Formats: sequence, structure tokens, C-alpha cells
Amino acid sequence: MARVLVVYCSMTGNTKAAAEAVAAGAKEAGAEIILREASQAGPEDLLACDAVALGSYDAFSYMGGLLKDFLDRCFYPTQGQVTGKPCGIFLTHGGGGRALDSMVQIAESFKLSSAAEPVSVKGMPDESARSQLRALGAQLAGQ
Ligand SMILES: Cc1cc2nc3c(=O)[nH]c(=O)nc-3n(C[C@H](O)[C@H](O)[C@H](O)COP(=O)(O)O)c2cc1C
Repeated sequence: MARVLVVYCSMTGNTKAAAEAVAAGAKEAGAEIILREASQAGPEDLLACDAVALGSYDAFSYMGGLLKDFLDRCFYPTQGQVTGKPCGIFLTHGGGGRALDSMVQIAESFKLSSAAEPVSVKGMPDESARSQLRALGAQLAGQ
């Protein structure tokens, strides 16, 4: 059974709902889920998973600070040990969504492997967005 880590940061609940949809999709596809707020996650979680989903809200066209903090804390302790690990990215935003670039770039710095197209959602995910997010989770579960 694949172990899928879903790490996210959320201020007002939109990205939390998105993360829960990603986790639900991975679980439906048979994976074990570790769903963590970024402040509660650490390098051991990234090392222990088979695939990872990174989620954030857009904060001034960059990822939210707590996801960045998680990634900063993980970089040296996981360097060279997560190369090629499948990664999926999701974002909620208020109409801009340019933070996606920062997330894709940082995943590349970790040498994670892009397992699916990033999912970008305006505001609270509706049923159509939730379906895309569940599909992202399912793709990670299948890696
Ligand atoms: C400090 C701050 C900065 C933001 N900057 C942007 C931005 O640059 N572009 C954008 O599209 N949305 C921006 N937003 C809106 C949020 O990304 C959007 O409402 C998001 O869905 C919130 O997710 P959350 O409910 O998980 O916190 C910003 C919100 C906050 C709180």
C-alpha cells in the first residue's frame, strides 16, 4: 500500500478543504494517508512517504509561509533522499494564482518528480474542483 503524505497550509479553510479532497482521492485509490498541516510536519514525514502532495494558498503570489517553513526545514535533512519521489501540487487563490510557480520551482529544487498537473482553485473548492483534487490524490496513490 502506498503511503501518501498531504502537507498543506491554510488560513481560512479553502486549502484545508482542498487537502482533504486530495487525501480522500488517495484513500479511495487504496493508499495510506498522512494528512498534516505544514506546521505539524517535518522531514521524517517526507522521508517516510511514497508520494507527497503539497498544498498552499496564494500569499502575495508566493506559497504560504508555513509551507515554505516546512520546506525550508526539510531541505537539508532530506537532500539526496527524495530524488524522483512523486509529487503533486495544489493551490487555492483569490483570482491570481501566481504562487503556483514558486511551488513548482521548489519541488524541482528538491528533485521531486511531478506526478500530475498542478491543480489551482479559486476560493473554496466546488464539486468540480474537488473532483480534480481527488484525481490528483488518486494519481499519487498509484505511483
Ligand atoms: C496575506 C494574503 C495574501 C494573499 N495574496 C494573494 C495573491 O497574491 N493572489 C491571490 O490570488 N490570492 C491571494 N490571497 C487570497 C488567498 O490565496 C485565497 O483566499 C485562498 O483561497 C485562501 O486559502 P485558505 O482559506 O486556505 O487560507 C491572499 C490571501 C492572504 C491572506
